[in-house]
Amino acid sequence: MASQEDKDFMTRFVVVLSVLVLLAAVFFLAARLLSVAQRTAVPDDLATAAQARVEERIRPIGRVATAEDVEEDAAENGEPARRSASDIYRAVCAACHDTGAADAPLKGDEGVWADRLGQGLDTVVQHAIDGIGAMPARGGDASLSDEEVRASVVYLLEESGQTVENGAPEAVAEAEPEVDAEAEPAAEAEAAEVVAGDPAAGQAKFGTCIACHGAKGEGMGIFPKLAGHTAEEIVDLLTRYRAGETVGPNTPLMAPQAVTLSDEDIANLAAYIETL
Ligand code: HEC
Ligand code: HEC
Repeated sequence: MASQEDKDFMTRFVVVLSVLVLLAAVFFLAARLLSVAQRTAVPDDLATAAQARVEERIRPIGRVATAEDVEEDAAENGEPARRSASDIYRAVCAACHDTGAADAPLKGDEGVWADRLGQGLDTVVQHAIDGIGAMPARGGDASLSDEEVRASVVYLLEESGQTVENGAPEAVAEAEPEVDAEAEPAAEAEAAEVVAGDPAAGQAKFGTCIACHGAKGEGMGIFPKLAGHTAEEIVDLLTRYRAGETVGPNTPLMAPQAVTLSDEDIANLAAYIETL
């Protein structure tokens, strides 16, 4: 029957078609397999890649940055390599402070450095930055940042038996309450003296203050106005600078001006400044 034959034909046709599709699929898969096999057939590359991935996975989370790492990183970022305090000391400061050249205080001389540190760390650091006596500014290396000078000063102090904590020397931190306790009656005693303070002598002494505070104590920029302060306030402030106390943010500029003042100088200056 025609319809039966048609059905047979259709069945065969479907079977043949299925086989063809299946073959195509198999062929396609085989081709894929072959290409994968080809790609994976380079064992060296694969091994390296796999090893890299494994290393990445087992890498410790926190890497300890050694000085070399920091320098490498800095070099990669185009920053100048940061120098450690001891490197700077050896390269710049040792010439004088290891040898005593130019009468430089020697590294390791505890007594000398305890005295120096008595001025307060900020002052000592500022001296090293600005230069002091025969010591050139920044030890003669203008490329050193303030932080680098500070770090090398701290290194020098620590190598000389001084305890420098949190950037503040222990000696000064301990001395502070004492100084305060003493400064109070001292200020009162001087306040009484202020009456006797000689404005004319104060005016003569004020010559050294003009460069920063102005001829009329009018102040400018970071240099505070002195005119308008009472004598008591001036005595109190100068006594605190002289004692090495940090008064304002620019204390390191002012403190050296006050350390050389006698009680009498302070009283006279205060008497004069009050008249401005
Ligand atoms: C050319 C020699 C020379 C070099 C280089 C030098 N110093 Fe000095 N330094 C001196 C002399 C001299 C003094 C004492 C100055 C004085 O008190 O009159 C001194 C004093 C100091 C003081 C004491 C300051 C104070 O207030 O008492 C410090 C801190 C200091 N130097 C640190 C350094 C550091 C840090 C370096 C390196 C970055 C350095 N010095 C390089 C010669 C030198
Ligand atoms: C090298 C510049 C300089 C010289 C010189 C100088 N001073 Fe100062 N003075 C300063 C600076 C900077 C301050 C602010 C410091 C601070 O931040 O605590 C200051 C603060 C003061 C203060 C405190 C004022 C306030 O309102 O807090 C008094 C008082 C003072 N100086 C008096 C004097 C006298 C007196 C002289 C002269 C013997 C003198 N100064 C010389 C720079 C200088």
